[in-house]
Amino acid sequence: MQVPFNYLPFEFKNNKAIFKEWKKLIKSTDFTLGKYMQEFEHNFKNYVNAKYCFGTNNGTDALILSLKALNIKKGDEVITVCNSFYATAGAIDAVGAKIIFVDCDSRYQINIDQIEKKITKKTKAIIPVHWGGASPDMNYIVKLSKKYNIHIIEDACMGIGGKINGKSPGTFGIIGAYSMHPLKSLNVMGDGGMVVTNNKKIANWIKKYRNHGMINRDSIEFWGVNYRLQPLQAIVANHGLTKLENVIKKRNENAIKLDLGLKKLYPNIIIPNRPNGYKETFALYMILCKKRDKLIKYLTKKNIEVKIHYPIPLHLQTPGAKLGYKKGSFPISESQALSLLTLPVHQFLTNKQINFMLKSIRSFYA
Ligand SMILES: Cc1ncc(COP(=O)(O)O)c(C=O)c1O
Repeated sequence: MQVPFNYLPFEFKNNKAIFKEWKKLIKSTDFTLGKYMQEFEHNFKNYVNAKYCFGTNNGTDALILSLKALNIKKGDEVITVCNSFYATAGAIDAVGAKIIFVDCDSRYQINIDQIEKKITKKTKAIIPVHWGGASPDMNYIVKLSKKYNIHIIEDACMGIGGKINGKSPGTFGIIGAYSMHPLKSLNVMGDGGMVVTNNKKIANWIKKYRNHGMINRDSIEFWGVNYRLQPLQAIVANHGLTKLENVIKKRNENAIKLDLGLKKLYPNIIIPNRPNGYKETFALYMILCKKRDKLIKYLTKKNIEVKIHYPIPLHLQTPGAKLGYKKGSFPISESQALSLLTLPVHQFLTNKQINFMLKSIRSFYA
């Protein structure tokens, strides 16, 4: 039996509805901004309950746009977590600010106990990451940000469809950034992203900056860039949005089955705590495993496709080390990197495949 990690061939097997909309778009030649993108932005802001939403060409640009919108630049410091995707830190570097890492916690989220000691006069923002589609304690981070008058930009790239006591990831801070990369809970056929905010002034600036600083065709207010989401992708995203709740539901059901089966294997396998009130997207289903690398070989032989997110934390990557970080700087993320494993949890898995995965992991540790 095969258990694939990549679900895209199943998801995009039948694209009739998308092709139908694409045909309409092609006929309209509404290829930049336009009605399809506006429709998606409208639907997405309603989905996460934010006042303003702007489609961008990917999640990385959504983060850069967020930092730029708050005028974060050289000389400023931005605090984030060392076990994220490269883009979280890369975006901070892209605007010239200094990346200040903190460690993660046992749920692989930003370690909230380490943030306060890293705040200096230069700190302009905290970027908490909704890592793997789970979330850190956002209420605590909001309290800290108010105490020190620091902005929160949420990296909710993996958090679309999650909830913290009914509130969407990406709507706790002043700006939230999202990705629609093909392996995200809401995905398009390529790249896509968006930012949301409730702040009108910031929204006005983002709207113009994303589109060359244009006020109208003939004049600009300031120098801007082209970070626009493609209408072709907006159509795919709109379509995906109608299915999102089902996708999250199915992934949660699969995660519960995996949790139940794997709990019995403690301490060979450790499942993260899943606090009440937190609804995860399960963009990644991550566990900690003893003899991880041998287990990967064993599962791979059985055609079970697994991944590691990620084997090297950001602070130990070449540019991280250049910032002065070294082995031992963040022991939690470093030790997790040696035993983290991501199992398939996607919405197309069958019960048979889940049971096969559980049986195979059990037989490895037997
Ligand atoms: C946590 C996180 N931040 C940022 C990004 C960047 O998003 P994109 O690939 O759309 O640029 C990703 C995903 O790739 C991500 O997982």
